[in-house]
Amino acid sequence: MGKVFVFDHPLIQHKLTYIRDKKTGTKEFRELVDEVGSLMAFEITRDLPLEEVEIDTPVQRATSKVLAGKKLGLVPILRAGIGMVDGMLKLIPAAKVGHIGLYRDPKTLQPVEYYVKLPSDIEERDFIVVDPMLATGGSAVAAIHSLKTRGATSIRFMCLIAAPEGVEALKEAHPDVDIYIAALDEKLNEKGYIVPGLGDAGDRLFGTM
Ligand code: URA
Repeated sequence: MGKVFVFDHPLIQHKLTYIRDKKTGTKEFRELVDEVGSLMAFEITRDLPLEEVEIDTPVQRATSKVLAGKKLGLVPILRAGIGMVDGMLKLIPAAKVGHIGLYRDPKTLQPVEYYVKLPSDIEERDFIVVDPMLATGGSAVAAIHSLKTRGATSIRFMCLIAAPEGVEALKEAHPDVDIYIAALDEKLNEKGYIVPGLGDAGDRLFGTM
């Protein structure tokens, strides 16, 4: 079963408070999400494998470490996922970025894929699917399914805030996918918003309230 990791670093928790606050305007909200994207990228890459290489410092020959293993791919779910990508790329600039766009069919309420563009070397990458909010889990489940059908074998999911309902849905549908979050909130309300949450992440990022 996929594991859930809560990033409780004080800087992440501090910034998340201002992200949640309804008094925080679009500019500051976007900056904070970007910063938390960087901090979460730092945490999620803790277990990346390293290998030793020989280099020459200005003083002498030395053995030192560089990243080994598969290359990374980031996949924001459109549109709110985009808000976290630049922050993540500041720490892992060599990562390639794919995009998956989904909308919810008003009749069936099921996510429908309208856009997918991924790096061509899918099998050779470890993917991090990113969306600030894991609410019902519908979009995350569908996006990860979409990545898997195209050949991805190593996938993690990262978000700012998760509802217990979304975590359960994602664990159930993709037990091989670990989930990385900054906060696990109380529940979903009748409109599908996470409580207490932060409102609509996309609207707050792009000023479309
Ligand atoms: N998507 C959001 O942006 N916010 C929520 O609370 C739930 C889903």
